[in-house]
Amino acid sequence: MRRKLVVGNWKMNGSRAANATLLAGVVAGLDGARADCAVCVPSPYLAQCQEALAGSAVAWGAQDVSDKPCGAYTGEVCASMLTDFGCRYVIVGHSERRAYHAESSDLVARKALAVLDAGMTPIVCVGETLAEREAGSTVAVVSRQLGAVLDMLAPARVAQIVVAYEPVWAIGTGKTATPAMAQEVHAQLRAQIAAKDAAAGASVQILYGGSMKPDNAAELMAQPDIDGGLIGGAALKAGDFLAIIHAAP
Ligand code: PGA
Repeated sequence: MRRKLVVGNWKMNGSRAANATLLAGVVAGLDGARADCAVCVPSPYLAQCQEALAGSAVAWGAQDVSDKPCGAYTGEVCASMLTDFGCRYVIVGHSERRAYHAESSDLVARKALAVLDAGMTPIVCVGETLAEREAGSTVAVVSRQLGAVLDMLAPARVAQIVVAYEPVWAIGTGKTATPAMAQEVHAQLRAQIAAKDAAAGASVQILYGGSMKPDNAAELMAQPDIDGGLIGGAALKAGDFLAIIHAAP
């Protein structure tokens, strides 16, 4: 069985003081957890995570990365800088980056490749807008987004990614896909991965994201193709984040 993975996406939130309390709270409450867990934090706080989480069961990572190696790219952060701070995961293609920074699926794929080349795990986000869902194009949209990444990877590397299905209309809105709606999309994504590499289809973790909370996490994670969660708002409170982690079967 695939292990469950619960990842906190702090987005652009945090302060040294608040992070210290949050990280200590999460570490202190992990006993008995069956899921793996990680936090993806703003880059300035990676050193703090490295210090607070080294030796704990909580992994850490970044929320974005440049597709370029080090060099003259003012304001950017390259993958080798993230490995320098012990990052295990990097979120790529979050819908907020696609929407506010006009990131194309092609750029997202190059970022995923840069993350893999640096020895980390990309969490590749895909998801449809409300208009796309209402137009009946959910599967077409997420397949295209995932396909751009799969096209760039040799079959043997496909098993090294994590995918997150995050319907844009469910992010930060309190509206969650029903477990059945999410499961349907997850199964499609898994079939797409399996078509590229059968073993990867069986092993790749596909997370659900979009208003996952303590009260809906267990039902979502009980679905056969939902392997955990990418958690925004609820990851900013240790109690809520832990409740989701402990909801993993
Ligand atoms: P949310 O965010 O849990 O606040 O909806 C999820 C995400 O954007 O990763």
